[in-house]
Amino acid sequence: MKILIIIANPKIDSFSFAIANKYKELALTKDYEVEIIDLYRTEHQQPFFTYENINGLKTTSEMKYFQDKISQADELVFVFPYWWGSMPAILKNFIDWNFSRGFAFEYVNSKPKGLLTNKKVTIFTTTGAPSFIYKITGANNRLKKMIQKQIIEFCGMKLKSFNIYGGVDKSGTNTSKILDKIRL
Ligand SMILES: Cc1cc2nc3c(=O)[nH]c(=O)nc-3n(C[C@H](O)[C@H](O)[C@H](O)COP(=O)(O)O)c2cc1C
Repeated sequence: MKILIIIANPKIDSFSFAIANKYKELALTKDYEVEIIDLYRTEHQQPFFTYENINGLKTTSEMKYFQDKISQADELVFVFPYWWGSMPAILKNFIDWNFSRGFAFEYVNSKPKGLLTNKKVTIFTTTGAPSFIYKITGANNRLKKMIQKQIIEFCGMKLKSFNIYGGVDKSGTNTSKILDKIRL
């Protein structure tokens, strides 16, 4: 079993990194293979995706690097802070580049067909606001549905679990309790 953790947080001492490291630790106890890709610090940086990239998108060496990692993984784990109701732009850019047509999906008779079958996806995201606010306003559910339907299932993958942890900005008071509850 191979797990690829993709983390999109500029802060090394963030709760996102604590979550990623905890998940890695749990996976290693099961002898799974685990790799972490740190999008802010990887040597394989991808520039901002532009119009020229869409037209006749060629597989760049960075795309090949990330797509090989994605292909080899049984489970993808995305860890990111909740920014403006969604994911940081660097993660969206990663998806724009690497979940490309012909690799992650194709069109058959004008209908999209996901190509990344047999992969599970786990999502961890952290919000500054307390959890109840986004539960009440429906924001948590909107983000979950968007990621599940428009990205994960569009590419033929299955959502394993979606976790939003609120109120993690305030001096880390509830963070150790959250870490204790994380399961593989
Ligand atoms: C650019 C930016 C946008 C943010 N947008 C939101 C937001 O929409 N809602 C929210 O609750 N917190 C927002 N935050 C706060 C982050 O979600 C919070 O700092 C983060 O979850 C803390 O977790 P971390 O330690 O993993 O970074 C934002 C922070 C930044 C820097």
